[in-house]
Amino acid sequence: MAVRELKITPIKNGTVIDHIGNGLALEVLRIIGAQSLDRESTVSVAMHVRSGKLGWKDIVKVEGVELSPRKVNAIALIAPTATISIIHDYKVREKRTVDLPSRVVGVLRCPNPNCISNQPEPLESEFEVVERRPVLLKCAFCERFVSDFLRQIH
Ligand SMILES: Nc1ncnc2c1ncn2[C@@H]1O[C@H](COP(=O)(O)OP(=O)(O)OP(=O)(O)O)[C@@H](O)[C@H]1O
Ligand SMILES: [Mg+2]
Ligand SMILES: [Zn+2]
Repeated sequence: MAVRELKITPIKNGTVIDHIGNGLALEVLRIIGAQSLDRESTVSVAMHVRSGKLGWKDIVKVEGVELSPRKVNAIALIAPTATISIIHDYKVREKRTVDLPSRVVGVLRCPNPNCISNQPEPLESEFEVVERRPVLLKCAFCERFVSDFLRQIH
């Protein structure tokens, strides 16, 4: 394509989160804890990038980091179209789509302040995925339904 592109610097080792829904890169940065990563972990972000599949998308590239399954689950909640590629020595070693499991454990806080999972002796939060499109969750402890979960991600 004879389209001028602004390319993000290639990374040697790390993780690429591509095909993030348009405008959701900042949420992904929050989930991966981009602010508290160390100085070797350069983080590159591209928002509002033209994409054949999605129309527009965001991309996040993080040097020197592999994401924990818990973080991948959190990304799956807000960016179900995302693909995660592990880069080794500048090459894609592994690429997968994110997958929302049937239960989401330890990722979201229950919005019910009286929920047992929010008490001083906190339990790990646990939600059942009741619907996937759009995502609807149900707390395993107090049965509160949660659809507006962006602000519940810890
Ligand atoms: N060395 C690298 N540094 C940074 N990003 C990379 C590197 N190699 C690949 N990527 C990125 O990793 C992702 C997966 O790479 P791949 O070559 O499979 O992309 P692709 O052909 O565009 O596939 P698709 O868009 O269908 O996932 C893309 O977002 C690509 O830009
Ligand atoms: Mg591509
Ligand atoms: Zn609850």
